[in-house]
Amino acid sequence: MADIESLLKEKRTFKPSKEFVKQANWNKRTVAEYRKLGAKNPQRFWAKMAKENVSWFSPWKKVLDWKPPYAKWFVGAKTNVSYNCLDRHLEGENAWRRNKAAIIWEGEPGDLRVLTYAQLHREVCKFANVLKGLGVKKGDRVALYMPMVPELAIAMLACTRIGAPHSIVFGGFSAEALRDRIVDAGAVAVVTADAGWRRGKPLPLKEAVDKSLEGVDCVRNVVVVNRCDLDVQMRPGRDRWWHELMADASPKCPPAKLDAEHPLFILYTSGTTGKPKGILHTTGGYLTHVTTTAKAIFDLKDEDVYWCTADIGWITGHSYVVYGILANGATTLMYEGAPTTPGPDRFWDIIERHGVTIFYTAPTAIRTFIRLGDEHPKSHDLSSLRLLGTVGEPINPEAWMWYHRIIGGRRCPIVDTWWQTETGGIMITPLPGAVDTKPGSGTLPFPGVRPEVLSGEGEPVAPPDGGLLALLGPWPGMLRGIWGDKKRFREVYWSKWKDVYFAGDGAHKDEQGYFWIMGRVDDVMNVSGHRIGTMEVESALVSHAKVAESAVVGRPDEITGTAIVAFVTPRGGTEPGDRLADDLRRHVAREIGALAKPADIRFTDALPKTRSGKIMRRLLRDIAAGKETVGDTSTLEDYTVLARLRGDEE
Ligand code: PRX
Repeated sequence: MADIESLLKEKRTFKPSKEFVKQANWNKRTVAEYRKLGAKNPQRFWAKMAKENVSWFSPWKKVLDWKPPYAKWFVGAKTNVSYNCLDRHLEGENAWRRNKAAIIWEGEPGDLRVLTYAQLHREVCKFANVLKGLGVKKGDRVALYMPMVPELAIAMLACTRIGAPHSIVFGGFSAEALRDRIVDAGAVAVVTADAGWRRGKPLPLKEAVDKSLEGVDCVRNVVVVNRCDLDVQMRPGRDRWWHELMADASPKCPPAKLDAEHPLFILYTSGTTGKPKGILHTTGGYLTHVTTTAKAIFDLKDEDVYWCTADIGWITGHSYVVYGILANGATTLMYEGAPTTPGPDRFWDIIERHGVTIFYTAPTAIRTFIRLGDEHPKSHDLSSLRLLGTVGEPINPEAWMWYHRIIGGRRCPIVDTWWQTETGGIMITPLPGAVDTKPGSGTLPFPGVRPEVLSGEGEPVAPPDGGLLALLGPWPGMLRGIWGDKKRFREVYWSKWKDVYFAGDGAHKDEQGYFWIMGRVDDVMNVSGHRIGTMEVESALVSHAKVAESAVVGRPDEITGTAIVAFVTPRGGTEPGDRLADDLRRHVAREIGALAKPADIRFTDALPKTRSGKIMRRLLRDIAAGKETVGDTSTLEDYTVLARLRGDEE
């Protein structure tokens, strides 16, 4: 509750400057008109957006077919995502974009590559033919496990060109996590690289792919990009080099005319229980959503150099490094490496050198930069910037103010965008030329979407009280299901209230209808803007031979937002201590990936439980947030006694 109170004290508001308003893609008048249309008839609004912003091979028969929880948008229409991102910028009145930069890429060691729209088109067609040559057919899943190199965007677009849904697995995930995702999706091919540059060293990827494929028989081909000149094992008959396949590939490949509901991609995300969920997105609605929001919210113009720092392995990278940006014919900047390599000013150096105009990043990055010191951004000319954005977690008002002052020079609007892997595109956000911002608030719903703050019983909660964030109607970019698990889809998102989507976040509205997101209400931790299920880390821990039981909770952390705390009961005869803690951290990194490594591991003889055997998480969260030193079990034991005394309280 402390959170709500402190946010309510936030009274500062910021108006967009006259200059910004004057040139905005969506000005106050447009926004007012769209809000009216979106409120009265969301389908009409989205149909208008689909006509204006997306190119279709054939029109839809019906805008929406809504049989909760299943939606079909633009029923019967045909389109192709790679056609929208590439071909249409090479034809007719847009043909001048042939030689415009589509991707400006910078590698961590400092190497640069620029791909024009014509060049990117050629590479995508070639790789689409490579995939076809390997026997990949429409509907087949292709796993991409790659560093942030142009080949990743090329591979994605090539998949969309032939209608093979991709499943991108973030390069920070371990071989085990990769295997689970490959098997669950039934991928027929994997595209990877020998490694990618990270903090001055090659981070191996091919090695992990080899390990992940042991005993897996769905994958017939592995394509390997040579990024770091590492010595890797190439398995004859299965593994091939990207450059060798591309050398012989034809640059002609017509885009497949795909149904609007054809599966576009699967992206795995953490849930409260069990294994990660394969979130399924489809073609026409998703494309409409991301193209429209990118144009309106990032105010994309042909002259812009747009940079979103997210890795393409997350939804932000899918929607707003690649698809939404290229579909608008804009220039997207891609950076391969770490934000602080070789020095703490790498980001500001990139902005200055490339003249970045729009910058979209995460609160955890902003908090890191605050700690590193103002001298780094101040030593660079950031005057090219005209718009800033944040995403991934709530931004604390002080971090917002720093971003506004030090990075934005007080002149750039900040768009704090709320959305999820499941929503496909941005849902709550300022429109930079039309909405006054307040530090820490995502402000208002995008036209045509209907978020609401509800009680557990489904009643709207009146401002300023807090409740659960819900989405009342279908929207074009919404997930179409969980891959292979209809039951779970209903349970996780649609069982709290009838035909209303449960987002898993707490929120409240203020008197002006502004939304304030308060973070997760379920057992998902948001660590540095990445969702990690407590359950997944617990499963990883108990899979270690020396662990009997574990409970994982989050505690507030200044930089990462949430830090992972693991309470662990070792098996009989095991000596707890720093050695075991290190070993367990390494084990979690192996099972899931370094991003899931617990910050603290606390050993205990027993976990506090209710009489019915439920772990008392609230108690553990309190302990995790407290001042106890690592390894001190006495308090916990006291709490265990307390728990027994309290009985079934939780
Ligand atoms: O808790 C919310 C938080 O991130 C969650 C979604 O995570 P993911 O699917 O990984 O997608 C992140 C990027 C879209 C949400 O349920 N979240 C995301 N954006 C914001 C946010 N919390 C507060 N403010 C935001 N702007």
